[in-house]
Amino acid sequence: MEKKQISAKPFMYPMPTMLIGANISGKPNFMTIAFCQMLCSSPPIFGLASMKTHYTNIGIKKNRTFSINIPSEEMVKVTDYCGLVSGHKVDKSKVFNIFYGNLGTAPMIQECPINMECKLVQILEFGNNEIFIGEIVGSYAEERYLTDGLPDIKKISPIIFSMDTSYWKVGGFLGKAYSVGKGFEPDKQ
Ligand SMILES: Cc1cc2nc3c(=O)[nH]c(=O)nc-3n(C[C@H](O)[C@H](O)[C@H](O)COP(=O)(O)O)c2cc1C
Repeated sequence: MEKKQISAKPFMYPMPTMLIGANISGKPNFMTIAFCQMLCSSPPIFGLASMKTHYTNIGIKKNRTFSINIPSEEMVKVTDYCGLVSGHKVDKSKVFNIFYGNLGTAPMIQECPINMECKLVQILEFGNNEIFIGEIVGSYAEERYLTDGLPDIKKISPIIFSMDTSYWKVGGFLGKAYSVGKGFEPDKQ
């Protein structure tokens, strides 16, 4: 079948759904973010794109810290809420139970299976967005979300975001990475 160019938009499938936290005037605030990704594993660098007008940006720049929180599928309503209302107008500081790690100023969500605290290392600007690049300095999870000491995707049940503005949940196991390709023979396809 012939390929047709459908646009020059970023059709990334799947995208994560994360709650990014920062303290503003001593109070925690959280926003939902889909445009975010691991950029480097060593050092552990994470990047997110946030519109310059977002309330959370104020706290990230002031404290030079932020948190990454991975909500589970049961949290889809509250996750959407944090992306619908802004801390400029609504106080989101009481929406979750909060804890702090080593940095002391990156508020993390107790209800989320995985939390990471970051120190800000760089800010880039593209159009109306600030790209915050942070180094992860602490990762947290309750024992019930781990298998053999590592986060387990089945237990976390993360929310997947699709460019058509819908939420999806994780399907099933497909194969072991760095392994299933070993039996592949290009000439025999
Ligand atoms: C599913 C979802 C994904 C979102 N992803 C982003 C994103 O990647 N970047 C961004 O700037 N805003 C994104 N938003 C919008 C912000 O979460 C929203 O404007 C929020 O109210 C900002 O909160 P704040 O002003 O309290 O910081 C997203 C919203 C939703 C619902």
